[in-house]
Amino acid sequence: MKRVLSGIQPSGQLHIGNYFGMMSRMIQYQEENELFCFIVDYHALTTINDRKKLESNTLNAAIDFLALGLDPQKVIFWIQSDVPQVTELTWLLSTVTNMGLLERATSYKDKTIRGIAANAGLFNYPILMAADILCFGGDIVPVGKDQKQHLEITRDIAQRFNNIYGDVFVIPEADINKSSQLIPGIDGQKMSKSYGNDIPIFDDEKKIQKRIMSITTDSTPIDEPKDKNTPLFQLYSLFLDEKGKQELRDRFDEPGLKYGEVKKELAETVLEYFHPYRDKREELSKNLDYVKQVLKEGAAKAAAEADTYLNEARRAMGLNYSG
Ligand code: TRP
Repeated sequence: MKRVLSGIQPSGQLHIGNYFGMMSRMIQYQEENELFCFIVDYHALTTINDRKKLESNTLNAAIDFLALGLDPQKVIFWIQSDVPQVTELTWLLSTVTNMGLLERATSYKDKTIRGIAANAGLFNYPILMAADILCFGGDIVPVGKDQKQHLEITRDIAQRFNNIYGDVFVIPEADINKSSQLIPGIDGQKMSKSYGNDIPIFDDEKKIQKRIMSITTDSTPIDEPKDKNTPLFQLYSLFLDEKGKQELRDRFDEPGLKYGEVKKELAETVLEYFHPYRDKREELSKNLDYVKQVLKEGAAKAAAEADTYLNEARRAMGLNYSG
């Protein structure tokens, strides 16, 4: 059985781009694989310095995941900082990581090019991510396309470590979701909270409706066929099976389609689709003790696994005097 592992940024309010980009895929993985899943609050510290915001984003991300169907019986699910072993492994790995590898990392390069002063944590971000993966022996790492380079860096670090100290780490494979880029926001650019073009999942229903009603459309006259390479068509398609998609294609091809009507339908579809999850989310947020218990148990299991890899790395490097 393959071990699948991924970390999720606690970035605030969840949107349907997050969901269809990777969360729903992760949740499917739980059925046939050993799944390790965690919220990366150590990574978030490289950009968030507000204690309340970090805490609430982290806990909310955990609640979102559970509400959307992550099953604690099947998955090891925890908050990254509850397993501090990864920070020790980060140090060990940093001693086999070339500076050049980090200088080339786009996460860091992008920020410095835009004149944002990067902290050392951001520079070391890829090593922490490598530690996240190597500490648990992840075989497969489902991530969005923007994380491809980080996975290559992880493989590089693992290979270098193994070459120097012997085979300690599993070399992980990235599982890049080809469709994750294709989820447009309401303006047709990639959906992102920072672009303000997202459709949130658990926000106030009226707000969600409003967002959907303001999806950008063109000015094709009603009595002409409509362009299907548009955010309205693509967003609606996410919720349809093959038959439904064919029907939607036909409707776009036929003259007479009114964008406003399609938007209204889409709004209803979205609300209906997430309705059960919304109820579940509400229940979970009233039951924080349960959520925290799940996270605590997950952290204990993850820590046991991390200790195994960490101790092996320590031994291989000559760092075990007391045991
Ligand atoms: N850097 C990833 C992102 O921004 C999050 C992440 C941290 C991660 N550690 C990880 C993803 C380990 C996969 C595996 O999305």
